[in-house]
Amino acid sequence: MGIKVFAPASIGNVGVGFDILGLALERPGDEVIARKSATPGVRIVKITGHGGKLPYATEENTAGVAALRLLEHLGATDVGIELEIHKKMPLGSGLGSSAASAAAAVLAVSELLRTGMSKRELLPFACMGEQVAAGGFHADNVAPSLLGGIVLICNNDPLDVHRLHVPLGLYVAVVHPHLQVLTREARAVLKPDIPLRDHVRQSAFLAGFIVGCFTSDLELIGRCLRDVIVEPQRAHLIPGFYDVQAAALEAGALGCSISGAGPSVFALCDNSLVAENAAYAMQHAFRQHDIASDLYLSKVNLEGATVC
Ligand code: HSE
Repeated sequence: MGIKVFAPASIGNVGVGFDILGLALERPGDEVIARKSATPGVRIVKITGHGGKLPYATEENTAGVAALRLLEHLGATDVGIELEIHKKMPLGSGLGSSAASAAAAVLAVSELLRTGMSKRELLPFACMGEQVAAGGFHADNVAPSLLGGIVLICNNDPLDVHRLHVPLGLYVAVVHPHLQVLTREARAVLKPDIPLRDHVRQSAFLAGFIVGCFTSDLELIGRCLRDVIVEPQRAHLIPGFYDVQAAALEAGALGCSISGAGPSVFALCDNSLVAENAAYAMQHAFRQHDIASDLYLSKVNLEGATVC
């Protein structure tokens, strides 16, 4: 008997909070199945939907490392675990694919071993797994994928994460253009220093966004969903980005920016109809640049990773 867990895709940064804000989607997402085995340690026995791109070696795989670090923490390295990873979302899309696998793996192993640990207690181990793929420690995908909702990461060490209130009616349109943007490269283009003026503006937008969430003021969220620091430095990595953003805003979206390190682009909207219109408008704008894309429409996922 195995335990199957679904963990959702997520939008890192949410435009306003580089590396410190993330939002969980309802779909797409990954599934991980954990089973006990007679061989001690963690073995990855099956991966589907990855196009041969993900490693089976436990120490190189986000789900494998997350599960292994959890076993070590539990002092249960004599226990044998087999993992199956079913990728149900695009890799390298800016939708937190590796984070979803790490989040699903820790919850599946925890449930299998009946540890009684809360998702918050499991979060550090999912982060250790995600670190393998991301090459750095930022929980803006893994925290929302595991916990659900819109999550603010106040500190990485020790982890200090907080869920924001999610206003009713908030919908997300996501368009994933068929382009490759490596997170490593998208981070390498960023200047290490920012002008004080930009810091002040971005702090005000982040604070306004958070107030907008807690007061369910969707217009304030829209006014504040702006990135004056990272988006201008990364926009050139996504051909047609400004046309896509303009199309979303013209269709009535509250705001639109790059999802995580890209290339996916997301728009927040105040109802499902606007989200659908914005998504089609964004897709059309990418098509004008000869770029095909997939779209996802979703509410904010309040559950995060769940046992199926
Ligand atoms: N916040 C990261 C970035 C991506 O924008 O580079 C996801 O962790």
